[in-house]
Amino acid sequence: MKKENKNIKTKKNYHKFELYEAAVQDPEGEIEIIDQFFRENFDHEAQVFREDFCSTFLNACQWVKIAQDHHSIAVDLDPRALAYGKKHHASKLNSEEQNRVSTFQANVMNVVAPSSDIISISNFSIGFLRNRKELLEYFSKCYRDLSQEGMIVFDLLGGFEVSHTQKEKRKVTLSDGTKVNYIWEHAQFNPINREAVFHIHFSWGKGQEKKKAFSYHWRMWTIPEISDVLREAGFQDVKVYWENDDEDGEGNGTFSAKKKVEDCAIWIVYVAGLKKT
Ligand SMILES: C[S@@+](CC[C@H](N)C(=O)[O-])C[C@H]1O[C@@H](n2cnc3c(N)ncnc32)[C@H](O)[C@@H]1O
Repeated sequence: MKKENKNIKTKKNYHKFELYEAAVQDPEGEIEIIDQFFRENFDHEAQVFREDFCSTFLNACQWVKIAQDHHSIAVDLDPRALAYGKKHHASKLNSEEQNRVSTFQANVMNVVAPSSDIISISNFSIGFLRNRKELLEYFSKCYRDLSQEGMIVFDLLGGFEVSHTQKEKRKVTLSDGTKVNYIWEHAQFNPINREAVFHIHFSWGKGQEKKKAFSYHWRMWTIPEISDVLREAGFQDVKVYWENDDEDGEGNGTFSAKKKVEDCAIWIVYVAGLKKT
């Protein structure tokens, strides 16, 4: 009898978005950081937050939870991701909070949405825009879509090992306590155009797995390339937020604007483009 129960448990299936969210998303931490950047750069508070490339729009849901005058706009091409977010996240907000979240199934390049104080792009999705012309068009559109004073903010992955193909594995605990292996595979890197292919795989239990649950083909933009295009699109200032160290020299999860740093094997920074008209 005991053996049977164990088999049922190990055969449990999980939705790929549930696995992804547990492995790579932290909406409370991310919104706190983004809000901190806005407060550091403007003397008023942000109200309207737009999450581009939002997938299941966890950050947009978190934004309306933290203040009653907050509104959010979530944009993604994929109707399945938006439907999952509505079913599993928006439905857990109270009805007043739900009224303050709008979703748009649209391409970020031509979405027509109300103006925002913040446009945020998470988990390296800026890399989906793989050529300079497209990146400039997108940043120019974001500049127009922001309020008179506003901020575009996104994370960027780099470092002198970012071109190395490799696999990285770590354990993730799901809400039911199940431990899942999360594997981040850097499968290809082309130094001629700095385009790269990544895959996310999951495995758990006895041979259960989702290989290539997600695959991404991204341009690995450098910080100066990105800063130049932001300024060309009209942003008056560009800040680069680098992670601070703890006493052992490891990243401590807080970020400060920096102009000069020591390079390292792999880094993740936040870049903020500031519109100050
Ligand atoms: C890496 S996921 C990012 C998910 C989420 N932002 C996060 O923090 O984890 C990328 C998402 O971008 C969406 N996407 C890709 N290109 C897009 C485009 N041009 N317009 C809108 N959404 C796009 C995909 O459908 C996918 O849901």
